[in-house]
Amino acid sequence: MFKMNLFNVLILIFITVLNSTHGANILGVFPINGRSHWVVYESLMKALAARGHNVTVITSFPQKSPIANYTDIDVSTAFPSVANKIGIDLVLNVLSNTHMNQMFISDHQLKLCRETIKLPQVQGMLKSDIKFDVVFTEIFGSDCDVGYAYYYKAPLISMMSSGILPWSYDRVGGPDNPSYIPLMIMPTSGKMDFTQRLKNTIYYIYFKIVWKIFSEWPADKFLKESFGPETPYINDILYNTSMVFVNNHFSLDGPRPLVPNMVEIGGIHIKHPQPIPKDILKFIEESPNGVLFFTFGSMIRISTLPKELLQIFKDVFAQLPIRVLWKFEEEMPDKPKNVFISNWMPQRDILNHPKLRIFMTHGGLLGIMEAVKSGVPVVGIPFFFDQFRNIQNVANNGAGISLDYYSLTKESLFNALNSIITNSSFSLNAKKLSQRFSDRPLNATETAVYWTEYVIRHKGASHLRTAAVGMPWWKYFLVDVIAFIASIVFIVLYVIYFLLKTAYKKITKKSVPKDKKKN
Ligand SMILES: *[C@@H]1O[C@H](CO)[C@@H](O)[C@H](O)[C@H]1NC(C)=O
Ligand SMILES: *[C@@H]1O[C@H](CO)[C@@H](O)[C@H](O)[C@H]1NC(C)=O
Ligand SMILES: *[C@@H]1O[C@H](CO)[C@@H](O)[C@H](O)[C@H]1NC(C)=O
Ligand SMILES: *[C@@H]1O[C@H](CO)[C@@H](O)[C@H](O)[C@H]1NC(C)=O
Ligand SMILES: *[C@@H]1O[C@H](CO)[C@@H](O)[C@H](O)[C@H]1NC(C)=O
Repeated sequence: MFKMNLFNVLILIFITVLNSTHGANILGVFPINGRSHWVVYESLMKALAARGHNVTVITSFPQKSPIANYTDIDVSTAFPSVANKIGIDLVLNVLSNTHMNQMFISDHQLKLCRETIKLPQVQGMLKSDIKFDVVFTEIFGSDCDVGYAYYYKAPLISMMSSGILPWSYDRVGGPDNPSYIPLMIMPTSGKMDFTQRLKNTIYYIYFKIVWKIFSEWPADKFLKESFGPETPYINDILYNTSMVFVNNHFSLDGPRPLVPNMVEIGGIHIKHPQPIPKDILKFIEESPNGVLFFTFGSMIRISTLPKELLQIFKDVFAQLPIRVLWKFEEEMPDKPKNVFISNWMPQRDILNHPKLRIFMTHGGLLGIMEAVKSGVPVVGIPFFFDQFRNIQNVANNGAGISLDYYSLTKESLFNALNSIITNSSFSLNAKKLSQRFSDRPLNATETAVYWTEYVIRHKGASHLRTAAVGMPWWKYFLVDVIAFIASIVFIVLYVIYFLLKTAYKKITKKSVPKDKKKN
């Protein structure tokens, strides 16, 4: 008996020592085929491998050359990358409609889950006897990936490549009171007026309901099909989330209260600047008055924009005293003299060049953060979801201007660009914002690595979880307590009323006969 116990203890010590010295086994489940999501997750996965952890990643973007301690499970055959494939029609007709966008992303994520788990390389991993110390999933269209954390009985860390999505608070019990916490689709900051609070509240309720019906229920069905009928309800797995990483920073998105297991890692994708390709560098360095960089991101195909609009861009650029770098995927026969086009441009490195004067963008979060990091003023033409807010965040800091796509004219575009060129306050504010964005105790990568290792060290760190996790809304908003207090107050008031009424009746009864006598 004693021998057996000692043996167990020794094994336990051996395992503990092994764990703490040899790094952890980490699984990242990130099948998403959009590069702007992947680059965020990739930064952390690579940083963890560099720390000596054994990292395995389900991804659509396998590494070109092998990295130590990093294994790809390549699922790109099922999901080709969407880079440069999305036309403006899809953007304007589907994505810019909040409801259609929601249907689109939940459907897309469920497809990713279904196809990923079928692949032999994924089945091979599930059937092998590998164990994981932590499992990462993405928070986006649906949580159908969390089954892997359940399957491996490992702590779950979830990440957003965006700011805080409305459906990411509940799993960690984060406060999301719509009276002062704007949703990602609200381009507001600070105090909201009545109409803004009304809109914010309606969308708040909308997202709760739509998420449940179109993301939560189908994902739960998928989990039971894939990981067995005894799999707990999806929220039981979600409410067990150890940590949520969010890709934003209060200096940009405004302050809001966060629970200790929701951590901001805004800008984690921003790498050390690399040399710019020679032709682009020459164009920038030989510019007499600096350069504007224009791109609608890695997914939207800019050549699908209406001809009239492309003409507006060309006419306005031709009038500018500065040069223009334009990410454009096709030939451009009538290209103005001061414009340089290419279908690929190293955005981060270009934005970091000291001659950069303006970043013209659709307002994708990653590009906005790169411009903020390098202190470049922004002119934004947002299309959908968080893009309005991303640009407004910069504009609120006096470092940018937001333009409306539908009412864009030569004049409005020229005026916006020209005021940034002629008025130095935009550039000064952009530099101030850059300093606030970079002033942190640990940089984004170190922060994410620290908290990941914290979760591993403390075996899931369930002590970070607030009591709000999984609380029904009526308890959370104290509906029961308010109803109880209200009924006590009502009863007391009623008793007082009743006593006064009886007393009054008695007094008047006594006095009635007197009156009658008088009569
Ligand atoms: C990480 O890679 C290094 C060098 O290849 C190796 O010595 C180490 O054992 C690896 N760590 C893990 C956890 O696999
Ligand atoms: C690292 O992960 C791979 C799977 O991705 C696995 O084959 C290998 O055994 C792991 N190494 C260690 C030291 O656990
Ligand atoms: C420059 O822009 C700032 C902020 O938009 C504005 O307050 C200021 O009046 C402008 N200065 C000039 C000279 O237009
Ligand atoms: C973050 O900080 C670490 C440690 O100081 C440093 O090695 C790393 O290069 C930094 N990362 C970035 C992107 O600045
Ligand atoms: C909850 O998380 C712990 C690790 O943090 C894990 O061991 C356990 O299996 C998880 N439970 C469920 C239902 O996912």
